[in-house]
Amino acid sequence: MSNFPHNPHSSDSSGPSRPAGPPRSEFRDGLDYPRLGSIGFRRGTLTENQQERWDEYWPTLGRELSDELIDIPAWFGREGAKTILEIGSGTGTSTAAMAPHEPDTNIIAVELYRPGLAKLLTQIVLQDIPTIRMVRGDGIEVLTRMIAPGSLDGVRIFFPDPWPKARHHKRRIIQSGPLHLIANRLKPGGVLHVATDHAEYAEWISELVTVEPLLEYKGWPWPECPQLTDRQLLTKFERRGLTMDHSIHEFLWQRTDAPDDREL
Ligand SMILES: C[S@@+](CC[C@H](N)C(=O)[O-])C[C@H]1O[C@@H](n2cnc3c(N)ncnc32)[C@H](O)[C@@H]1O
Repeated sequence: MSNFPHNPHSSDSSGPSRPAGPPRSEFRDGLDYPRLGSIGFRRGTLTENQQERWDEYWPTLGRELSDELIDIPAWFGREGAKTILEIGSGTGTSTAAMAPHEPDTNIIAVELYRPGLAKLLTQIVLQDIPTIRMVRGDGIEVLTRMIAPGSLDGVRIFFPDPWPKARHHKRRIIQSGPLHLIANRLKPGGVLHVATDHAEYAEWISELVTVEPLLEYKGWPWPECPQLTDRQLLTKFERRGLTMDHSIHEFLWQRTDAPDDREL
């Protein structure tokens, strides 16, 4: 399958769930991918209540990064629904606020930080939100190993870590490589939505908006956008933005109809 990047420890995607092989996939498209160094997992302890809820619900609603493709209809228990994957859902406040407004859409929230996922899990359970599932892992690896090409209707990245120091810029998730990977995993017509409150990161993204030929840049706002773009609440970043006179920069792209004829 030339559409899958090279993963020397992974042979196929069938069979029982396997833990992820090597920590980072190797990409052969010659593009720039984030280099996270030793930053991979973000630990943190759960409260007793969170741990109990985790033990009860995580096996059904969550999974760890692995080398097994997700069977989306089976996991959500329905056929034909749209699917949006969110990278870096944090504590899941906007994830949980948006999901009830898009009940026909499956949401896969991906996050490295277990206490953040535990907070989202609490919201899912207490608010009885049936349409959110979670994966703990690096969003790039989750897209690479667990999501089939052309299977997503949307990808969201809200307030990604800005890595403000110049020597850390290579850790940024918005780079030419992830844009290609996301385009590859989106269906034709699928949407990528990115928001940041960091002015310099917004400039960085602005320079990359046309770098991926399979993503047509739509700017902001885009009234005909086929997916929900309103986060429904002021996230911590938006509140901070308002008090510090920052502004929120939003970016929307649409996957073109052209096939992806490049190797990943
Ligand atoms: C600045 S926070 C924003 C959280 C949330 N989107 C919000 O708007 O409140 C960025 C989050 O992305 C997560 N993150 C950073 N890099 C990631 C990656 N490669 N894969 C998954 N999550 C990531 C971090 O753990 C953190 O929770």
